[in-house]
Amino acid sequence: MAKIIGFGILGSGLVAPFHAKGVRDSQGGQLIAVCDMNRERADKMAGEFKVKAYYSLADMLQDSTIQVVNVALPNHLHRDAVLDCARAGRHVLTEKPPAMSLKDTDEMIAACKKAKVKFGCTVQCRVRKAIQAIKKAVDSGRFGKILHADAYMKWFRSSDYYKSDAWRMSRKSGAGVTIQHAFHYIDLLQYLVGPARRVQARMTNLAHPEVQLEDTVLSFVDFMCGAQGVVEASTALWPGTDIRIEINGVDGTAIMMGEKMTTWKFREEKPEDAEIRLYGSAAQATGAGGAADFGHADHKVVIQDMIDAINEDREVVIPVSSVRPTLEICLAMYQSSASKKAIDLPVQDDETAWEWKG
Ligand SMILES: NC(=O)c1ccc[n+]([C@@H]2O[C@H](COP(=O)([O-])OP(=O)(O)OC[C@H]3O[C@@H](n4cnc5c(N)ncnc54)[C@H](O)[C@@H]3O)[C@@H](O)[C@H]2O)c1
Repeated sequence: MAKIIGFGILGSGLVAPFHAKGVRDSQGGQLIAVCDMNRERADKMAGEFKVKAYYSLADMLQDSTIQVVNVALPNHLHRDAVLDCARAGRHVLTEKPPAMSLKDTDEMIAACKKAKVKFGCTVQCRVRKAIQAIKKAVDSGRFGKILHADAYMKWFRSSDYYKSDAWRMSRKSGAGVTIQHAFHYIDLLQYLVGPARRVQARMTNLAHPEVQLEDTVLSFVDFMCGAQGVVEASTALWPGTDIRIEINGVDGTAIMMGEKMTTWKFREEKPEDAEIRLYGSAAQATGAGGAADFGHADHKVVIQDMIDAINEDREVVIPVSSVRPTLEICLAMYQSSASKKAIDLPVQDDETAWEWKG
């Protein structure tokens, strides 16, 4: 009989309800508590989901009914929280990016390994049916040699979004379109076609002069597999349109818009292709126009996987180690934009690349 797994959510801000709903709708998961140092936020969310409220992680970690902590804090605060959870023997599901540096990411991975706890990341777009179909086709060689892997994210976020919290205005805290928003789609590219070899990027602020960060990134990426690609990502483009992931191989092309497969064409048609063309819904919002404008179905899949992984004593479907190459590509983009040069991977952490020169 599978055990019931208790969850505690750290951070009761924008993304926390997506985790809470994911646990609520899971099989075998139970939300025990939420936690926020802002008592009003913690109390409000605890009331909505009828669970306990804690106001510090240390207190929440005293609760022995919590086995998994979902870290939904601002990006620069993930590291310390994850290390505390690992020390307390709790499994961790962290929001993206796992951390702001490769050093911190490696430290977190090592701490979770030492504590023998699972360490997953909610780059939840990976679990979309369209992405899973593309991944399977890549792995089985159906595309033939892959020529292009591209991500287009033409979104809109208002000035009020950036001004809603100090961390959303500071690159060192993890704000900026590249690491905060495009991270998901850069992650999809490396998940689908493998790590990058060289990155060139230009970052600009097109429509948010009140904040010192990039709201737009244009980048060329060369992948180890030989493919080339572009990443075009922005939060300046009103009203915001669905993201596009495009994979082109010698033998086929796949395009996902939002979560919907819009193109699925191979030189050799297979019986399952007709069904794959129906994957995803064009009606499902995926974040283009507003920060909370998306569903919790993908979070639910990642949370369900954490429950199953604990019960089956196996690795989670999105271990943080598999997300490290995404962080590396993002860091290379920042370094390339700052230096105006192409950057070869692997990269080292470089604090100076967070400075915004406009
Ligand atoms: N996976 C997704 O699609 C997705 C979407 C949005 C945000 N995110 C990620 O989720 C994380 C949180 O983003 P958000 O938009 O919800 O931020 P937010 O600012 O809305 O919420 C963060 C909360 O953490 C609280 N907090 C800060 N420090 C704390 C501490 N030491 N102890 C307890 N509480 C503390 C704040 O009071 C705030 O309520 C970020 O990593 C972000 O990148 C992911």
